Amino acid sequence: MALLPILEYPDERLRIVARPVEIFDAALHRQIADMFETMYAAPGIGLAATQVDYHRQLIVIDVSEEKDRPLVLINPNIVEKEGSQTCQEGCLSVPTVFADVERAERVVVEFLDREGKAQRIDASGLLAVCIQHELDHLAGKVFVDYLSPLKRQLVKRKLDKRRRQQAA
Ligand code: NI
Repeated sequence: MALLPILEYPDERLRIVARPVEIFDAALHRQIADMFETMYAAPGIGLAATQVDYHRQLIVIDVSEEKDRPLVLINPNIVEKEGSQTCQEGCLSVPTVFADVERAERVVVEFLDREGKAQRIDASGLLAVCIQHELDHLAGKVFVDYLSPLKRQLVKRKLDKRRRQQAA
């Protein structure tokens, strides 16, 4: 297994729209294992393939306290949405930045598991937020896109400054 480099906003590669996974082979399983390792090490509760410059519809999630409930969503599709909730979100591609985003309170998502078998989850609360956030990544969207242009400028400046400090 290996830690994968995570793309940082405003990297243009975060805008690439992911294509469906078609082949369920050892290479895919290695990619999934590497993404889990990268997510747990960060640490984070979700990681979309887009964020590690792999442009297929693949997401790994674990919102459990004990980090023992790994969830793999392949070619996911939200088929039902209900209610609304506002949660303070962060993102491994937008380090040190947190902001409120409004999302559906409950989503039903259909997807394939790592063996290519069709699955369905009815999620609410944090898991629902996480699923919606990660699905956005596969569509080339980042959570700061929901902020005002002014706030987005502040985010870019903060990240520029952080990168300069790290380089120094
Ligand atoms: Ni994210």
